[in-house]
Amino acid sequence: MTAIRRFDVSDSAIEAAAWLMRNGEVVAFPTETVYGLGADASNPAGIERIYKAKGRPRHNPLIVHVSDVEMARRMAHFNPKAELAAASFWPGPLTLLLPKREDSGLATAVTAGMKNVAIRFPSSSIAQRLIRAVGFPVAAPSANRSGKVTSTRFAEVARQLEGRISGIVEEDTCDHGLESTILSLVGSPTILRHGSVTREALEALLGPIDEDSAPQKVSAPGQLKSHYAPEAAVRMNVDRPSGNMVWVGFGPESEGCQFTLSSSGDLHEAARNLYAVMSEADAWAGPSDVIAFAPIPLTGLGWAINDRLRRAAAPRPA
Ligand code: TXA
Ligand code: MG
Repeated sequence: MTAIRRFDVSDSAIEAAAWLMRNGEVVAFPTETVYGLGADASNPAGIERIYKAKGRPRHNPLIVHVSDVEMARRMAHFNPKAELAAASFWPGPLTLLLPKREDSGLATAVTAGMKNVAIRFPSSSIAQRLIRAVGFPVAAPSANRSGKVTSTRFAEVARQLEGRISGIVEEDTCDHGLESTILSLVGSPTILRHGSVTREALEALLGPIDEDSAPQKVSAPGQLKSHYAPEAAVRMNVDRPSGNMVWVGFGPESEGCQFTLSSSGDLHEAARNLYAVMSEADAWAGPSDVIAFAPIPLTGLGWAINDRLRRAAAPRPA
């Protein structure tokens, strides 16, 4: 395997990265949420390479990224709630699950053969420029090996995926730090994954919203319980550390902790730092150490952070 090609964000570099994608290769790129592993969504070879590079089960579909709403309307049927959600939250960290159009032009494997497609219009200008240069929607899961910690920084992407992908656009601009909120608008509105667009904000616009209560059965296999897991064991809601714990604090009590998500207790800062701190704490932890997270309040963004911690702390498959 040839070495990974590294791109800056100049026009010529973005064009070269897009050229690789148009030719069925996989390129990692930053979005405002996390790094994505992108391929041209019409190209079956590129989509196959994403599944392979990630080690992702073939039944777990990919989000398709667009650079304008028109591009999204060409792939899916928009109902009035979808129009409303798109007008209010796009571009931004909200993914909409909608019925796929017959003539979407998407490679079948993008949606793992399902009838619905998950679409996101990222606000990241780098992501937008790349999609425009590809000239077609870009399928992209988060840029981590399946089941491992999601990457918000290019060095971590390269560490996990060197030798498995063709290129990487190097610019650390994943300011939200958590994956997008996923809202299904197939049937009654349902949150499939929490993110920085909160339930409160969605309900203010769309009325009451369900929460996926049977995650094993749902349409979003990323809801599987153990996920985002570092090598070391993870525990949450730890007020006081005991022996062999690498303690990750939050708020003013972070003093004396090895790491902190935010020493001022800011939830946005905590979300932005979460995955990088998880990786750093993992590198620091000895073989029998436990990464222990201080309690994170269950308000606003705290729901999404606690959700990710719960999955990292869940029992691992044998
Ligand atoms: O912020 C994000 O959403 C990032 C960036 C790169 O855009 N992407 C991301 O993708 O988090 P991924 O693949 O790591 O998580 C996408 C989730 C998975 O749980 C997947 O099962 C679900 O979305 N999903 C994708 N397409 C779907 C579909 N057609 N039907 C149901 N669930 C779908
Ligand atoms: Mg992921």
